Amino acid sequence: MALSRRGFLGAAAGSVAAGVVLAGCEGEGTAPATSGEGNPGAGQQPQSFHGAHQMGILPGPASYAVAFALDLTVADRGGLADVLQTLSARIKSLVEKPSDDPTDPLKVPEDNGMLTGLDALLVSGTVAAGASLFDARFGLQSLKPTALDPMPDGLARDELDPQRTHGDLLVLVQGEHADVAMHAVRRIVRDLGGKATVRWLLELFTRPDTTPEPDRTTTRNLMGFKDGTGNPDPTLDDLMDDVVWSAGAEDGEPAWCAGGSYVAARTLRMMIEEWDGHTLDHQEKVFGRAKVSGAPLDGEKETDVPVYPKDPAGAKIPFTAHIRLANPRDGKAKLMLRRSMSYTRGIDGAGLLDQGLFFVSYQRTMQAFLEAQQRLKGEPLEQFVITNGGGFYFAFPGPAEGEYLGQGLIEAAG
Ligand code: HEM
Repeated sequence: MALSRRGFLGAAAGSVAAGVVLAGCEGEGTAPATSGEGNPGAGQQPQSFHGAHQMGILPGPASYAVAFALDLTVADRGGLADVLQTLSARIKSLVEKPSDDPTDPLKVPEDNGMLTGLDALLVSGTVAAGASLFDARFGLQSLKPTALDPMPDGLARDELDPQRTHGDLLVLVQGEHADVAMHAVRRIVRDLGGKATVRWLLELFTRPDTTPEPDRTTTRNLMGFKDGTGNPDPTLDDLMDDVVWSAGAEDGEPAWCAGGSYVAARTLRMMIEEWDGHTLDHQEKVFGRAKVSGAPLDGEKETDVPVYPKDPAGAKIPFTAHIRLANPRDGKAKLMLRRSMSYTRGIDGAGLLDQGLFFVSYQRTMQAFLEAQQRLKGEPLEQFVITNGGGFYFAFPGPAEGEYLGQGLIEAAG
């Protein structure tokens, strides 16, 4: 019997045997639906602008990125369409061809010249809509993804700074050099020519693991732990359909949402000086994994799957451990695809290091993120993490050949 996507998910979620489909629903001893493929970490090639889904989501992060939010200054839907077309044209061109060197001394150079002599293109550019895009300005209220609300304050240990939170659009550009990503920001901002202002911006980086397990490259976050291990395998299309991509009307969403994805982006400042003063044992119990190998504390290697029924008292992996709360593997927890990167931005006013994780997760339903976040509330990790920015967004579906990002939304509005 052919199952609809919704039926497939429902059937899978109700069955332990379906652990092969939903890693979050893994039963005892089920192999993780995880692989290093699609998570190469470095040396990434430019991705394709056109397709059913946007680039920059399934492949693991490139080495560098810039995330920035835009607030639109245009007044109507025509202006919004213009902004989306401009963004699309620039991103497409940045992943497809190098910028021309300036030659005419009497002209303002089209390009800033930052990348002259560098044989590297942008790896990806991804664009997502914030809840504010669906306010009265553009007449799109009835087309808002159903669960797209502004990120609330207080989900964890939050001190949200309004100047670092929300925004009409989120743009994430990724590259294999820091200046390739920043060049993309410069070109986009210049093209927009005042039709949008940058609300907040965060420079990001990650690096490939130096001792990867076979068929796996997970990166380390700034607390020194491997990050990304428990992710569902991005190379499994059916799994990604269940976990990441909206099915549009089939999910009870506006039809234009099909192929897009809900985005939770949270700027998680790590209280790094405090963290570095704790014993290895304590640090490992906070996460539930070994720092060096990345193995769960009831296993030996990174690829081992934690088996919670065999640890009913939490003797090996405490009940409060981050991984046990984030994914209890109880057959009910919904999955998400995490694509977090690190950030550093100098010191704060007290001279403390201002660095942490730009947590990014993509999910088919916002509940997947919200339920995980709810389970994590009050976890020991919170002692070391303050959320001060980011937002909730919806990544547009991928543009078909000849289309621009968000075209389905604009056309649905008539
Ligand atoms: C600074 C904050 C955070 C840090 C440092 C952090 C770090 C980690 C680490 C080291 C792991 C284990 C390796 C892995 O599977 O990737 C992990 C797992 C995970 N984290 Fe986080 N994380 C943070 C915040 C969050 C948040 C806010 C969420 C979602 C609300 C989340 C969801 C998850 C999930 C779903 C897993 C996989 C658990 C599993 O399948 O076993 N994390 N995180």
